[in-house]
Amino acid sequence: MSGGRLITIEGLDGAGKTTLARSLAAEISARGHAVELLREPGGVLVSEHIRALVQDPGLEISARAEALLYAAARAQLVEERLRPLLASGAIVLLDRYVDSSLAYQGAGRALGVQAVLAINRFATSALEPDRTLLLRISPAAGRARQRRRAAEPDRLERESEQFFARVADAYDELARAEPARVRILDGSRAPEHVLADGLAAIADLLALEPLARD
Ligand code: TYD
Repeated sequence: MSGGRLITIEGLDGAGKTTLARSLAAEISARGHAVELLREPGGVLVSEHIRALVQDPGLEISARAEALLYAAARAQLVEERLRPLLASGAIVLLDRYVDSSLAYQGAGRALGVQAVLAINRFATSALEPDRTLLLRISPAAGRARQRRRAAEPDRLERESEQFFARVADAYDELARAEPARVRILDGSRAPEHVLADGLAAIADLLALEPLARD
């Protein structure tokens, strides 16, 4: 079976993931590739329901339950959308994936990266990204950008500075551990520079023939 490409975009809140994802999708599409832009948690109905639940500031959700809810949203997305899209040969740009859970739940909530990885391997039946773009920004700069947005902070965005420092360190560690997959982009640069860097970081994937996937 031929396969598409799964490209994930990661980083702290306020790093500019959504802006990059949208502009990358437009550029990839302009080059004649079938491209699909999805976000986590979400992308399919069940996962959008779970998104509303995990982001509700009125709910107290235990750390383990939170990790399982993100994993459940992900499991549904993988089965219902990602696997079929990849099988059809599409390039899928995904705004957050397993690395978000490793950083936010594994490190931020201190559940342990390995424990969170284990439930996510189960949830995704080990579907791994072909490339991950890590938009790097300091926690302080991310927070400042978030404050400039009009929207009320959601449940996760209300966390402490120490929480986001742990998340940022975990992302850096993931990039160090898997340099071939995870490419770091400087999120403090202007959007057009981030886009150019992002395109350069996936250029090899766009040129290749489709991968065989099981
Ligand atoms: P985000 O993409 O920042 O949504 P928005 O654009 O609405 O701000 O993601 C929402 C939050 O969910 C964010 O604070 C990070 C958190 N999150 C986790 O903690 N673990 C996960 O596995 C995922 C996918 C997201």
